[in-house]
Amino acid sequence: MNVWVLYESRLGNTAQLAEAMAQAMTKWARVRLLTVNQADTPAGVHLLLVGIPNHRHSRPNAVLDWIRRLPSGALSGVWVSVFEIRYEPLRWLQVSPTWKIGRALQRRGGCYAATPESFFLAGHEGPIAEGEIQRGCAWAVQMVQNLTPGRK
Ligand SMILES: Cc1cc2nc3c(=O)[nH]c(=O)nc-3n(C[C@H](O)[C@H](O)[C@H](O)COP(=O)(O)O)c2cc1C
Repeated sequence: MNVWVLYESRLGNTAQLAEAMAQAMTKWARVRLLTVNQADTPAGVHLLLVGIPNHRHSRPNAVLDWIRRLPSGALSGVWVSVFEIRYEPLRWLQVSPTWKIGRALQRRGGCYAATPESFFLAGHEGPIAEGEIQRGCAWAVQMVQNLTPGRK
Protein backbone atom coordinates (compact mmCIF):
# COMPACT_ATOMS: atom_id res chain seq x y z
CA MET A 1 0.00 0.00 0.00
CA ASN A 2 1.25 3.49 -0.89
CA VAL A 3 0.56 6.19 1.66
CA TRP A 4 1.17 9.92 1.44
CA VAL A 5 1.32 12.01 4.59
CA LEU A 6 1.05 15.57 3.36
CA TYR A 7 1.13 18.48 5.77
CA GLU A 8 1.28 22.21 6.28
CA SER A 9 3.15 23.51 9.34
CA ARG A 10 4.41 26.87 10.50
CA LEU A 11 5.74 26.32 14.01
CA GLY A 12 6.70 22.67 13.45
CA ASN A 13 4.12 20.86 15.58
CA THR A 14 2.05 19.47 12.69
CA ALA A 15 5.33 18.47 11.02
CA GLN A 16 6.41 16.60 14.15
CA LEU A 17 3.15 14.66 14.35
CA ALA A 18 3.15 13.92 10.59
CA GLU A 19 6.70 12.56 10.81
CA ALA A 20 5.81 10.31 13.74
CA MET A 21 2.71 8.97 11.94
CA ALA A 22 4.68 8.32 8.75
CA GLN A 23 7.36 6.48 10.71
CA ALA A 24 4.78 4.39 12.56
CA MET A 25 3.08 3.28 9.31
CA THR A 26 6.28 2.17 7.53
CA LYS A 27 5.93 -1.31 9.04
CA TRP A 28 2.74 -1.83 7.00
CA ALA A 29 3.03 0.47 4.00
CA ARG A 30 5.31 2.44 1.66
CA VAL A 31 5.00 5.90 3.14
CA ARG A 32 5.95 9.23 1.62
CA LEU A 33 6.11 12.27 3.90
CA LEU A 34 5.86 15.60 2.14
CA THR A 35 5.05 19.22 2.76
CA VAL A 36 2.26 20.78 0.77
CA ASN A 37 4.87 22.74 -1.21
CA GLN A 38 6.52 19.51 -2.37
CA ALA A 39 3.32 17.78 -3.44
CA ASP A 40 2.20 17.20 -7.01
CA THR A 41 -0.88 15.25 -8.14
CA PRO A 42 -0.96 11.93 -6.24
CA ALA A 43 -0.44 8.92 -8.49
CA GLY A 44 -0.69 5.32 -7.28
CA VAL A 45 -1.57 6.52 -3.78
CA HIS A 46 -4.00 4.36 -1.78
CA LEU A 47 -4.23 6.45 1.38
CA LEU A 48 -3.70 10.20 1.67
CA LEU A 49 -3.43 11.72 5.16
CA VAL A 50 -3.50 15.50 5.27
CA GLY A 51 -2.23 17.38 8.34
CA ILE A 52 -2.98 21.02 9.11
CA PRO A 53 -2.42 23.48 11.96
CA ASN A 54 -5.47 25.21 13.44
CA HIS A 55 -4.80 28.93 13.04
CA ARG A 56 -8.01 30.80 13.56
CA HIS A 57 -6.94 33.92 11.77
CA SER A 58 -5.08 32.23 9.01
CA ARG A 59 -6.78 29.13 7.61
CA PRO A 60 -4.73 26.30 6.13
CA ASN A 61 -4.84 27.94 2.73
CA ALA A 62 -1.84 26.17 1.22
CA VAL A 63 -3.48 22.76 1.65
CA LEU A 64 -6.83 24.02 0.41
CA ASP A 65 -5.18 25.64 -2.63
CA TRP A 66 -3.32 22.41 -3.39
CA ILE A 67 -6.56 20.39 -3.27
CA ARG A 68 -8.38 22.91 -5.44
CA ARG A 69 -5.62 22.78 -8.04
CA LEU A 70 -5.97 19.00 -8.38
CA PRO A 71 -7.77 17.88 -11.54
CA SER A 72 -11.37 16.74 -11.12
CA GLY A 73 -11.46 13.08 -10.01
CA ALA A 74 -7.74 13.14 -9.07
CA LEU A 75 -8.58 11.38 -5.78
CA SER A 76 -10.99 8.79 -7.19
CA GLY A 77 -10.25 5.48 -5.50
CA VAL A 78 -8.03 7.18 -2.89
CA TRP A 79 -8.80 6.76 0.81
CA VAL A 80 -8.33 10.01 2.69
CA SER A 81 -8.37 11.52 6.13
CA VAL A 82 -7.39 14.76 7.81
CA PHE A 83 -5.75 15.60 11.12
CA GLU A 84 -5.10 18.89 12.83
CA ILE A 85 -2.94 20.20 15.63
CA ARG A 86 -4.68 22.64 17.92
CA TYR A 87 -4.66 24.22 21.34
CA GLU A 88 -6.96 22.17 23.57
CA PRO A 89 -8.73 24.91 25.59
CA LEU A 90 -10.19 26.31 22.36
CA ARG A 91 -11.63 23.01 21.15
CA TRP A 92 -15.23 23.68 22.23
CA LEU A 93 -15.26 27.22 20.83
CA GLN A 94 -14.33 26.59 17.22
CA VAL A 95 -15.44 24.36 14.40
CA SER A 96 -12.49 22.35 13.20
CA PRO A 97 -11.19 23.31 9.73
CA THR A 98 -10.46 19.62 9.12
CA TRP A 99 -14.05 19.14 7.91
CA LYS A 100 -13.62 21.80 5.25
CA ILE A 101 -10.44 20.11 4.04
CA GLY A 102 -12.22 16.75 4.14
CA ARG A 103 -15.07 18.07 1.99
CA ALA A 104 -12.58 19.43 -0.55
CA LEU A 105 -10.85 16.04 -0.69
CA GLN A 106 -14.22 14.32 -1.20
CA ARG A 107 -15.08 16.72 -4.02
CA ARG A 108 -11.93 15.50 -5.81
CA GLY A 109 -13.12 11.89 -5.41
CA GLY A 110 -11.53 10.89 -2.08
CA CYS A 111 -13.35 8.60 0.38
CA TYR A 112 -12.89 8.80 4.15
CA ALA A 113 -10.80 5.98 5.61
CA ALA A 114 -11.54 7.61 8.99
CA THR A 115 -13.26 10.83 9.95
CA PRO A 116 -11.01 13.84 10.70
CA GLU A 117 -9.25 13.90 14.06
CA SER A 118 -7.80 16.63 16.27
CA PHE A 119 -4.60 16.31 18.28
CA PHE A 120 -3.72 18.70 21.05
CA LEU A 121 -0.95 20.94 22.27
CA ALA A 122 -0.05 21.61 25.89
CA GLY A 123 0.50 25.32 25.10
CA HIS A 124 -0.58 27.74 22.41
CA GLU A 125 2.58 27.17 20.36
CA GLY A 126 3.50 23.72 21.67
CA PRO A 127 4.73 21.32 22.80
CA ILE A 128 2.42 18.51 21.70
CA ALA A 129 0.55 17.30 24.78
CA GLU A 130 1.61 14.09 26.49
CA GLY A 131 0.30 10.98 24.77
CA GLU A 132 -0.88 12.78 21.65
CA ILE A 133 1.96 11.57 19.41
CA GLN A 134 1.18 7.98 20.43
CA ARG A 135 -2.56 8.56 19.88
CA GLY A 136 -1.82 10.00 16.42
CA CYS A 137 0.38 7.05 15.48
CA ALA A 138 -2.28 4.59 16.64
CA TRP A 139 -4.94 6.47 14.62
CA ALA A 140 -2.81 6.32 11.46
CA VAL A 141 -1.71 2.70 11.89
CA GLN A 142 -5.30 1.59 12.53
CA MET A 143 -6.33 3.09 9.18
CA VAL A 144 -3.57 1.27 7.31
CA GLN A 145 -4.45 -1.99 9.04
CA ASN A 146 -8.15 -1.58 8.23
CA LEU A 147 -7.27 -1.09 4.56
CA THR A 148 -4.85 -4.02 4.38
CA PRO A 149 -6.56 -7.04 2.80
CA GLY A 150 -6.78 -10.08 5.04
CA ARG A 151 -6.39 -8.11 8.26
CA LYS A 152 -9.22 -8.09 10.76
C1 LIG B 1 -1.37 33.16 15.43
C2 LIG B 1 -1.87 31.86 15.98
C3 LIG B 1 -3.23 31.62 16.04
C4 LIG B 1 -3.71 30.42 16.57
N1 LIG B 1 -5.04 30.21 16.62
C5 LIG B 1 -5.50 29.05 17.14
C6 LIG B 1 -6.90 28.82 17.21
O1 LIG B 1 -7.70 29.66 16.83
N2 LIG B 1 -7.34 27.62 17.70
C7 LIG B 1 -6.48 26.67 18.14
O2 LIG B 1 -6.93 25.61 18.59
N3 LIG B 1 -5.14 26.87 18.11
C8 LIG B 1 -4.64 28.04 17.63
N4 LIG B 1 -3.30 28.26 17.58
C9 LIG B 1 -2.41 27.22 18.06
C10 LIG B 1 -1.85 26.47 16.85
O3 LIG B 1 -2.75 25.49 16.42
C11 LIG B 1 -0.53 25.86 17.25
O4 LIG B 1 0.41 26.89 17.45
C12 LIG B 1 0.03 24.84 16.28
O5 LIG B 1 1.25 24.39 16.80
C13 LIG B 1 0.27 25.35 14.92
O6 LIG B 1 0.71 24.29 14.11
P1 LIG B 1 2.22 24.23 13.56
O7 LIG B 1 3.12 24.13 14.76
O8 LIG B 1 2.26 23.03 12.71
O9 LIG B 1 2.45 25.50 12.79
C14 LIG B 1 -2.80 29.44 17.05
C15 LIG B 1 -1.42 29.70 16.98
C16 LIG B 1 -0.96 30.88 16.45
C17 LIG B 1 0.52 31.12 16.41
